Amino acid sequence: MITERTTRLLPSMTAPAAPQHVLVVGGGGRENALAWALARSAGVKQVWVAPGNGGTAELEGCIQLAISEGDQDALLKTCQDETIDLVVVGPEAPLAAGLGDRLRQAGFAVFGPGADGAQLEASKQWAKALMVEAGIPTAGYWKANSKEEALRALDAQGKPLVVKADGLAAGKGVTVAESVDEARAAIEEIFAGRFGGEASLVLEERTHGPEVSVFALSDGERMVLLPPAQDHKRIGEGDVGPNTGGMGAYAPAPLLDQAGLEEVKRLVLDPTLAALQARGISYRGVIYAGLMLTETGPSVIEFNCRFGDPECETLMPLMGPEFAAVLMACATGQLETAPSLTIHDQCSACVIAAAQGYPGEIRKGDPISSSVENGADLQLFHAGTRRDEAGVCHTNGGRVLAMVAQASDFDAAFAKAYEGLQQVHFEGMTYRRDIGHQVRSH
Ligand code: AMP
Ligand code: GLY
Repeated sequence: MITERTTRLLPSMTAPAAPQHVLVVGGGGRENALAWALARSAGVKQVWVAPGNGGTAELEGCIQLAISEGDQDALLKTCQDETIDLVVVGPEAPLAAGLGDRLRQAGFAVFGPGADGAQLEASKQWAKALMVEAGIPTAGYWKANSKEEALRALDAQGKPLVVKADGLAAGKGVTVAESVDEARAAIEEIFAGRFGGEASLVLEERTHGPEVSVFALSDGERMVLLPPAQDHKRIGEGDVGPNTGGMGAYAPAPLLDQAGLEEVKRLVLDPTLAALQARGISYRGVIYAGLMLTETGPSVIEFNCRFGDPECETLMPLMGPEFAAVLMACATGQLETAPSLTIHDQCSACVIAAAQGYPGEIRKGDPISSSVENGADLQLFHAGTRRDEAGVCHTNGGRVLAMVAQASDFDAAFAKAYEGLQQVHFEGMTYRRDIGHQVRSH
């Protein structure tokens, strides 16, 4: 008897060809790393990046396009003109805006969920409701669509709760309040329109423990897990000061060994994918679970619908030559036919060089000099940079560069990354010297 499942699988028994023409959408360090990893994947002949940055402008096998990530018409036209086989969308904003849907409707294979699946990141309320329904471990929460409702919930609890703006807030929508007054102020700020539009939020119980990022590459029905990574969110050494997009990372994070990773799959990722399917969503892209490892087990802090940045820069050098074929198989719903993804057995270390002032008001436009030779175990990925007409690279954002190195242990990998940074200079360059302190012996 042919079951429904076998019937569905039959048309996909042969693997999709590895993509030859790949378009990467986005312009950060993550997209520089993605373009680099895709350009060196087996079968890939040409990568286009829109809009890219000062690093992708010089990347071998890569053509940069002056098209913004929000310009769906121009991106669609590029797919048609360049016969693009696979589109990889880096950032969350174009995904939440439906870029994946638009390109898929036009017949292109896209790695990145549609606007429906992107709600995992774009709406905290939606994500929390999905987690509760699917029995996924996460902190208790209260949702509120008005200031009065939020303040009532806060007062009823009478303790400092974590306050999270509902929509995309570029990493600035979360306040881990130390006092009820601080939580109240965060609520007032959200409803004063800081994050635009019609405000709503969730209040969450505070949880405690180390944090780790887990990435599942999904084709809508199945998934492949990447090694867990640990980010460093705070600006200051010793993990103090304001939150940033991420100041450095390392992978594989020993916090989660193989058994721990399998537990996360069973408790978090499998039920998430099942809950997405139950909502009729074929999620083809990354499910990024930001986890806190609490005393009672992993608890989901947040979901994102894309690779983490700088986790992506850290992970890409560990990917084998099948990377592009695996993303293609995810994009076409055929992961069961994909070659298995080689993960290099190395420790990868990433340190971000930021502009002076980051994460507040930053200096921009300073020339960057570098004598780093990108190679097998050392990569300088660009984030907030741009090249002028003469080809000179300038700072152009808060996080400017990602210095990444691999070695057989973390001490050696971080030593190499920090040595690499000695060969880079721009005015006001700042970086944390203690990235990876959790896994370094000194
Ligand atoms: P996000 O902007 O969503 O990445 O959150 C920023 C940071 O807030 C996270 O990395 C955590 O360190 C912290 N955080 C978020 N939710 C909680 C929670 N429920 N309890 C404790 N810390 C949290
Ligand atoms: N590294 C954290 C993030 O990408 O959200």
